Amino acid sequence: MHVVHIAVEMAPIAKVGGLGDIVTSLSRAVQDLNHNVNIVFPKYDCLKFEHVTDFHYQRCYSWGGTEIEVWFGKVEGLSVYFLDPQNGFFSTGCVYGRGNDAQRFGFFCHAALEFLHQSGFHPDIIHCHDWSSAPVAWLLKDHYMHYDGLSKSRVVFTIHNLEFGAHFIAKAMVYADKATTVSHTYSKEVAGNPAIAPHLHKFHGILNGIDLDIWDPFNDKFIPVSYNSENVIEGKQAAKKALQQRLGLKKSDLPLVGIISRLTHQKGIHLIKHAISRTLELNGQVVLLGSAPDPRIQNDFVNLANQLHSSHADRARLCLNYDEPLSHLIYAGSDFILVPSIFEPCGLTQLTAMRYGSIPVVRKTGGAYSSLNSVLLSVIITLC
Ligand code: ADP
Ligand code: GLC
Repeated sequence: MHVVHIAVEMAPIAKVGGLGDIVTSLSRAVQDLNHNVNIVFPKYDCLKFEHVTDFHYQRCYSWGGTEIEVWFGKVEGLSVYFLDPQNGFFSTGCVYGRGNDAQRFGFFCHAALEFLHQSGFHPDIIHCHDWSSAPVAWLLKDHYMHYDGLSKSRVVFTIHNLEFGAHFIAKAMVYADKATTVSHTYSKEVAGNPAIAPHLHKFHGILNGIDLDIWDPFNDKFIPVSYNSENVIEGKQAAKKALQQRLGLKKSDLPLVGIISRLTHQKGIHLIKHAISRTLELNGQVVLLGSAPDPRIQNDFVNLANQLHSSHADRARLCLNYDEPLSHLIYAGSDFILVPSIFEPCGLTQLTAMRYGSIPVVRKTGGAYSSLNSVLLSVIITLC
């Protein structure tokens, strides 16, 4: 089968959250099953080009009065077509937050379909994700059904988070051939939503997974000692020491609670704050890595960080930025990873925590709940 993803986030070149992880890991998993997988992606100026190999210019085409350059490159073994419209849509800022995101991504979706059409591609499946590439679902049906190449293509639309772009999501649900979301539990939680309810016959919850090669404590350049189940204690102790040293915390065996999260309402900010103070009261250590898209929340955490860094300098560290290498060290060096989300369509943090031998502490919601359930079930099956 030929599968084409049209997406606006992709790890590690332009990742904001779990959507970026999944575009890469799902594509790799499907490619490993011997299917032909391509990704069509915006050529943001902020791309982390150090992760792109064989990068080269291919050609130029015109759509909507704009010249669009097509570049090609390999990312984590995947073939990616980068579109660079010469109207400056992707040349400043990174991914979201330029005020005209709906217009930029709407343009990108149509330009991506036009690229597939003009290139003579015949994908069996075109897979779009969340509100940002939702327009693919109706643009394909409205504009390309009479062309040989795309007329047989079927659209899969995955909802990673129903909170954003409800209007786009509702429309894509009508046009998509199949719609999925990222855990069975979340599919049940949102089944009554007016955008979803009329389409339950084609809506499925499929639990996300993590890429076991990318997240692998036995082969992770960001942690000091490689480990697997044979030497997990040695590996985690070394990672904990390295984490404490890097962040200037006291080197000790006290339980260390890690939090790696976007700081938004969804992630249970009040519960995170409560857990930080309880951990410190109980003489534990706490490391938080996160950033808030809302400047008021970011500011609030900056104040909390200043306060804790003076009152508990040796036991608390709040790193209020985005730092992929540090996230690996926290997954490895923590004893617990906290995910107190108010709602969580899937959540990759608790899955990665388990991969690194840290105990996830989650609320009973969405995928956070399903993923622990399925792991516990497999542990029970193994023990039996
Ligand atoms: P969401 O997509 O809702 O943010 P997920 O749990 O699905 O939540 O995915 C979050 C991803 O982003 C994980 O891979 C996590 O490790 C990563 N992440 C979150 N915040 C940061 C940060 N500040 N620095 C590095 N990685 C982060
Ligand atoms: C969204 C959800 C998160 C999910 C991720 C990847 O960002 O908030 O729960 O894990 O997408 O599907």
